Amino acid sequence: MGTGMGSSWCDFFSVRYFILLLLINAPCCFSFEQTQALCHDDERSALLQFKANFTIDKSASQDPFAYPKVAYWGRLEGDPQLNNCCSWDGVECSHDSGHVIGLDLASSHLHGSINSNSSLFQLVQLQRLDLYDNNFSFSQIPSRLGHDLTSLTYLNLSMSSFSGQIPSEISYLSKLSTLHLSSNSPPLKMPNFRSLVQNLTNIKQLHLFDVEIRSTVPNKLVNLSSLTSLRLHACKLEGQFPVGIFHLPNLQVLDLADNFDLTGYLPDDLNISSPLKILNLQAADFTGHIPASIRNLRALNLLNIRSCKFYPHVPSSLSNLTQLNFLDLSSFYDYSYLRDLPTIHTFSGQVSDFLSRVGKVTKLNHLFLDNTHFRGDLPCSLANLTQLLEIDLNQNQITGEIPCCLANLTQLLELDLGHNQITGQIPSCLVQLSQLTLLDVRFNNLQGAIPRSVFELRNLEYIYLHSNNLSGSVELDEFSKLEKLRGLRLSLNKFSVQIKTGFNAIAPKLELLGLGSCNLTEFPEFLKYTSHLEDLDLSDNNLHGQIPKWMWNSTGETLRYLNLSGNQLTGFEENPVIIPWHGLYSLQLDSNMLRGSLPIPSPLISYYSVSNNEYAGEIPATFCNTRPLCILDLSNNNLNGKIPQCFENLRFLQILRLQNNYFHGDIPQIGSKRCLWLRGIDMSYNQLQGKLPRSIANCSKSASKLKVLILRSNGFHGIIGKPSSSHEFPKLSIIDLSSNDFSGILPSNYLENWSAMKSVDAKEHIYFRSMIFFGGKYQETFFYDYRITVFSKGVELEYLKTPNLMKLIDLSSNRFVGEIPGIIGNLRGLNLLNRSFQQYSHWSHPLVFGELDCS
Ligand SMILES: *[C@@H]1O[C@H](CO)[C@@H](O)[C@H](O)[C@H]1NC(C)=O
Ligand SMILES: *[C@@H]1O[C@H](CO)[C@@H](O)[C@H](O)[C@H]1NC(C)=O
Ligand SMILES: *[C@@H]1O[C@H](CO)[C@@H](O)[C@H](O)[C@H]1NC(C)=O
Ligand SMILES: *[C@@H]1O[C@H](CO)[C@@H](O)[C@H](O)[C@H]1NC(C)=O
Ligand SMILES: *[C@@H]1O[C@H](CO)[C@@H](O)[C@H](O)[C@H]1NC(C)=O
Ligand SMILES: *[C@@H]1O[C@H](CO)[C@@H](O)[C@H](O)[C@H]1NC(C)=O
Ligand SMILES: *[C@@H]1O[C@H](CO)[C@@H](O)[C@H](O)[C@H]1NC(C)=O
Ligand SMILES: *[C@@H]1O[C@H](CO)[C@@H](O)[C@H](O)[C@H]1NC(C)=O
Ligand SMILES: *[C@@H]1O[C@H](CO)[C@@H](O)[C@H](O)[C@H]1NC(C)=O
Ligand SMILES: *[C@@H]1O[C@H](CO)[C@@H](O)[C@H](O)[C@H]1NC(C)=O
Ligand SMILES: *[C@@H]1O[C@H](CO)[C@@H](O)[C@H](O)[C@H]1NC(C)=O
Ligand SMILES: *[C@@H]1O[C@H](CO)[C@@H](O)[C@H](O)[C@H]1NC(C)=O
Repeated sequence: MGTGMGSSWCDFFSVRYFILLLLINAPCCFSFEQTQALCHDDERSALLQFKANFTIDKSASQDPFAYPKVAYWGRLEGDPQLNNCCSWDGVECSHDSGHVIGLDLASSHLHGSINSNSSLFQLVQLQRLDLYDNNFSFSQIPSRLGHDLTSLTYLNLSMSSFSGQIPSEISYLSKLSTLHLSSNSPPLKMPNFRSLVQNLTNIKQLHLFDVEIRSTVPNKLVNLSSLTSLRLHACKLEGQFPVGIFHLPNLQVLDLADNFDLTGYLPDDLNISSPLKILNLQAADFTGHIPASIRNLRALNLLNIRSCKFYPHVPSSLSNLTQLNFLDLSSFYDYSYLRDLPTIHTFSGQVSDFLSRVGKVTKLNHLFLDNTHFRGDLPCSLANLTQLLEIDLNQNQITGEIPCCLANLTQLLELDLGHNQITGQIPSCLVQLSQLTLLDVRFNNLQGAIPRSVFELRNLEYIYLHSNNLSGSVELDEFSKLEKLRGLRLSLNKFSVQIKTGFNAIAPKLELLGLGSCNLTEFPEFLKYTSHLEDLDLSDNNLHGQIPKWMWNSTGETLRYLNLSGNQLTGFEENPVIIPWHGLYSLQLDSNMLRGSLPIPSPLISYYSVSNNEYAGEIPATFCNTRPLCILDLSNNNLNGKIPQCFENLRFLQILRLQNNYFHGDIPQIGSKRCLWLRGIDMSYNQLQGKLPRSIANCSKSASKLKVLILRSNGFHGIIGKPSSSHEFPKLSIIDLSSNDFSGILPSNYLENWSAMKSVDAKEHIYFRSMIFFGGKYQETFFYDYRITVFSKGVELEYLKTPNLMKLIDLSSNRFVGEIPGIIGNLRGLNLLNRSFQQYSHWSHPLVFGELDCS
């Protein structure tokens, strides 16, 4: 990738210079005198001073066509034409006065800081200033900008590494018609949005993408009738969005996406003359109906209401939006995890009904309906949308087979049908989708072999077939025909994969590879030829012996996720002290025969799981340097020693599983004092002692998300005191303190507080899941289902997922005295259990719950 981009960039660059050189060598051929005003000396030297403040740095601009516009400013002093700053690249002078009125240094490789002494502020006649896509090294926007450049009508400081607060003086620029302050990182802060808007009476484009505003949207915006484009994406806006903005007569673009706390609704009287083309409300807190008047937005091109909370009914008037090109009705429940909200409403019904509504929207290119509740078979009417490029029906309840009429969508680039209940085989007729780059049918009930036609889809870059019932012998070499392939996931089927040398040819491009449960007995040789591999899953095979050194040699720099669980591995060839993949986010080595001491995780690790191995020794304190650690599972090993004191530094820890080891001593503070993230702790079957760990008890009240606390079978003692507030552990629904040495009166006050036990929220997600966002190219989201072992009446039951409705209290085998508090009867959640579980048909055994044992 690097070389391709680099050379085309260089070609462009040299063409540019070639033209410049032509100018320099043959100035007589060009005459600027008639057209170009002569620049003023003071402005000329101001420009040169400005130039001198920066270094030219290629990496300062992202645009592949960027080039240093200032490079030839002021060269060749003797030449009158080139000496005239009005002829300089990026400089625009007034024809009449010769004053510099425009400075366009967008994407110019400028790197350096800027402050109020900058000579830029001497260009007081400036009307247009564009510094987009440079690197101003986290400079503050100087307040002089507002004082001195009051003629500005166009200001673009987007994506230029400015930081800090936007000075209030920016609101002096009352002539502005374009203001772009988007995408600076860290985000700019704008505490004075209201006063800014007060003055921007001529504004047409206001783009504040990623500016931290943190206030309500001022009503005054409703009066800015020239506004054509308002982009307030991810501005942390609050309060009610002024509905009048939908009536602005010239508004074409309204982007309010990712403002989770911005409430609002769509008015019933959307105006038929509205020129609105783009309406992006993704994940904003918009509610109510989608009004029938949406049909009036006849120019609408893009409608994105992903993760909004509209009443989930698709009005038939949607079919009047004949210009619609992009439609996203998905609910993206990831946000609800982040914010611990119940499930958001989703659209539902038969896919065919929905299509009968949008059937006439034939210009549709992008249709996103993922994680809605659409059900039924895939109807052939889908093929009426012949312009479709991308269709996403991931996470619905689609049944039936993949119909061949879909093959009529010959323009299709991406087909995502993952996480449904689709049956039958992968049809051969899909071979007609010759443009296809993504085929995603993961997590369905597909069976049969991979049809050979898949290997004819020469544009395929990503094939996700994992978690189906597909079977047969797969010659991996066949995939080498797909020269663009970057992602191949076959895990969790019944494949038996054969690998010869043909696959080596495409290995270098490969980024994602899943060959879990593919009957492999050896680490595939082709891994030696990979150089971009980010995600590798070789779980549940018959890999044995040691993880060969060459494996981490070839994947060392790029690998982010590695899953080698469920093999018979015994260790690393040449046991590394530190895990050899420096950039790893996720490491799963569970259920092997790994011995020795724990490998030290890379500092970026979020998920570290080595359960069911034979690791021994202590947890090294270096674990605490992994700041982003979310999930740590060391259960079922032979580890000993104390839990490191520094676990208090693991601020993002959500899940900690240390059960079935030989840990002793007290439990230290875990996670930060506020325990913002901690959700599940299992330390059962160790030799831990002390009082009920203050660390856990001290979590700051209502912030606590702790849901599962299992300390079974340790040596904890002491009395469990009165809770300091009635809001302690609001989420706690599973607590097992059994087989310890706790004493005193039964902690009925606590029981009273466990409000999570009292109510059953039907809207809650079905299972206890944690979610991690990973960075990297694919920005993957990982769902971790909490696995739990329940003991009841001497029987041990293991659940691979923990239902959110599961409520359990087990205080047995301690030395509590007193009566079973009457409050137990009030824990409605407990009582409701048996009934609520009947809806989950795969719950094979009746649930039995930990009984109170007061002996
Ligand atoms: C820019 O250069 C001028 C002199 O040319 C100097 O006075 C000023 O401090 C410089 N500013 C920065 C931010 O380097
Ligand atoms: C601006 O320049 C003056 C004198 O040249 C200097 O005292 C002052 O610190 C400078 N300000 C900044 C922000 O660099
Ligand atoms: C901009 O430059 C600063 C150093 O001056 C650097 O830390 C930062 O990473 C750069 N930003 C970008 C986007 O390259
Ligand atoms: C509006 O702009 C004028 C000058 O253009 C300025 O005097 C006034 O203070 C500004 N108002 C606000 C609220 O910033
Ligand atoms: C100004 O900034 C925006 C981002 O807000 C960018 O998309 C646009 O291309 C910039 N304008 C120019 C002329 O570079
Ligand atoms: C908008 O303008 C109207 C009439 O010009 C005026 O009455 C109203 O107060 C203005 N609203 C705001 C919020 O400034
Ligand atoms: C619709 O917009 C037009 C033009 O802005 C305006 O004249 C008309 O009154 C509006 N109609 C309604 C019902 O708001
Ligand atoms: C919307 O579509 C219906 C049915 O096709 C049609 O009768 C009606 O005139 C359309 N309305 C508008 C505003 O285009
Ligand atoms: C869509 O296609 C079906 C056949 O699959 C056809 O019967 C129907 O009339 C088409 N609908 C529209 C609106 O064109
Ligand atoms: C698909 O295309 C074929 C011919 O190319 C046509 O006969 C058939 O009706 C089309 N099916 C749909 C559902 O559009
Ligand atoms: C797995 O591979 C072995 C040979 O390595 C073969 O004997 C066996 O049948 C394969 N298992 C399956 C399920 O294909
Ligand atoms: C690891 O890579 C280096 C150079 O990249 C090579 O010299 C060495 O032989 C490789 N080692 C193994 C075990 O493959």
